[in-house]
Amino acid sequence: MPCWSTLPGVERTTLITGGSGFLGAHVVAAAVARSQVEGTLAEPQGPLVVAQSRSSALLAPRFCSPRDAAQWIEADLPGDLEALLDRVQPTEIIHCAALSRAADCEADPARARAVNVDVPGQLAGWAATHGARLVHVSTDLVFGASDAPEGGFSEAAVPAPVSEYGRTKLEGERAVLAALPAATVARLPLLYGDSAGRGLGASDSVLEQVERGERPRLFVDEWRTPLEVSSAAAALVELLDFDAPGVAHLAGPDRVSRHGLGVAVLESMGLSRDEAEAELLPTHQADLDAGAPRPRDVSLDATRAAAALSAELPGVAAGLARVH
Ligand SMILES: NC(=O)c1ccc[n+]([C@@H]2O[C@H](COP(=O)([O-])OP(=O)(O)OC[C@H]3O[C@@H](n4cnc5c(N)ncnc54)[C@H](OP(=O)(O)O)[C@@H]3O)[C@@H](O)[C@H]2O)c1
Repeated sequence: MPCWSTLPGVERTTLITGGSGFLGAHVVAAAVARSQVEGTLAEPQGPLVVAQSRSSALLAPRFCSPRDAAQWIEADLPGDLEALLDRVQPTEIIHCAALSRAADCEADPARARAVNVDVPGQLAGWAATHGARLVHVSTDLVFGASDAPEGGFSEAAVPAPVSEYGRTKLEGERAVLAALPAATVARLPLLYGDSAGRGLGASDSVLEQVERGERPRLFVDEWRTPLEVSSAAAALVELLDFDAPGVAHLAGPDRVSRHGLGVAVLESMGLSRDEAEAELLPTHQADLDAGAPRPRDVSLDATRAAAALSAELPGVAAGLARVH
């Protein structure tokens, strides 16, 4: 794998698609923080940060403050993509927008293809023509047909998805790199952390169910290398400054089951291990229809990114300590 080198600083406008999403909201916050730091060092003003979402009602979760530190634009993709790019003229893009729920992709494969394949392909084509830097967000679910080897799938492993979500995300990766080989395709694992009270992600969804008095069913036979969402966002923003063509894995160092992660989340809220386990229903994949095929072990090996980036990719204990 080639080493990553730092790109020279230029006047920048940073576009973050899907800025209202679980991940995107943290990416906007991280891009704003970077812009504020760089504004005092390199340019009179740091890069302008522009965030795209579909609906103004969902804009600016509470950690995206100050709200006016980023400009927010409503755009439905793919329909509004060209107009969005013409208006913003970004010099760098982090593409977070996606049809991200596996069951939605299974139910509407044509829509999944339009959003997860066509949009990133067109975005990369525009970036190639206009000389813009692109970090495209993908997923560990491009794997799954076979279990991860010990240490996790490296960037050199051959993807083999099992769901429509995984297939469209993989095709999206390929469309991006075909149009813009210099783009970085950042594969993320299961994300957890603060969703601004929206019950999104692998920890807030558990906490929300427990607060409602439910016992979340969590898989004891599904293994991931989860990452705290603000850490993922910081790493994605840092990648903008690297010449890092091709695929990069960003993931935590711990391989844990969904159930194990749920126990750790509740322990981080002050419950004992016994109390935490009592709140959850250990479940096997075969016992629950989740609306889409689910792989057993898509653990990622993120050794290369962990060594190259200054943003930390924390394990579960350190990641949860950042959240609660
Ligand atoms: N969450 C995870 O654990 C995880 C793990 C691995 C990879 N990822 C990847 O990370 C990225 C973000 O995921 P997420 O969990 O943050 O998803 P999310 O919470 O569902 O957010 C998706 C974002 O995309 C926007 N969007 C969806 N369809 C759109 C359309 N047709 N036009 C315009 N905007 C659209 C949504 O806008 P609205 O709010 O306006 O609907 C929202 O801002 C995705 O690429 C996903 O594949 C996520």
